[in-house]
Amino acid sequence: MITTIGCCDSGLGGMQVVKALKEAYPNLNIVYIADQSNVPYGEKSVEELRKYAHAFLDKFRMMDIHEVVVACNTLCANVIGDIQEEYEDLHIYNIIEPTCRQLAGHHFQKINVLATPKTVEKHAYLNTLKAFCPETEIHEIPAAKLVPIIENGCDSDILRKAVESYVSEKADAWVLGCTHFPLIRPFLDGKGELFDSNQAVVDLFRDEQITGEGKMEIYTTKDPARMKESIRTLLGCDYDVKAITLDS
Ligand code: DGL
Repeated sequence: MITTIGCCDSGLGGMQVVKALKEAYPNLNIVYIADQSNVPYGEKSVEELRKYAHAFLDKFRMMDIHEVVVACNTLCANVIGDIQEEYEDLHIYNIIEPTCRQLAGHHFQKINVLATPKTVEKHAYLNTLKAFCPETEIHEIPAAKLVPIIENGCDSDILRKAVESYVSEKADAWVLGCTHFPLIRPFLDGKGELFDSNQAVVDLFRDEQITGEGKMEIYTTKDPARMKESIRTLLGCDYDVKAITLDS
């Protein structure tokens, strides 16, 4: 039985996971924290990423939230495995394995993974996908430019050009290994089958009894009014956003 889930990311990426969860489970209570003071995470050091992950998990623990979806591939790839044992009272969901599991049994010849430089550096997708798709050629592409463009208002011409600079390599399937990247789906039309973390996270809770009242709390470490506006224009949702401080 799950009443409340905590969810976190550097910014607007994890908010798309939240939107998918909300659509699938309307009565689930969700507390979302975006660390927009420190976005992008994709080129930060492992020490910095560890500090951010601790700050999120400490905050959720203080809020008495025990189910936590780390809706940030960069944190999942680099630090969550190492620090998880310090939080035995929390159920922490790493989203990389469930995202990869979606490709099992598809028998693609070639899969491209688009992710942040720090996720690619760790080869988290390559190593996990190999287990699900042992016969498949897997190619990882570090894409540093996309998150800042999305966070800065998602100008569609600039975003399209940036996406084009990463997608010359052909593939049968693309894994969007950063939770910001479902927003680039329109620019990958016709490139192959697309997979992201949104449905993968929804599927994690399929067999759970969800017993909340559908409450949403959204926090940012930066500018609540700006985040509210971004959520409205990018995701078409109208939610209140409050400020929060993280000890990072
Ligand atoms: N959305 C996050 C991820 O999935 C973080 C992106 C960033 O801040 O660079 O990796």
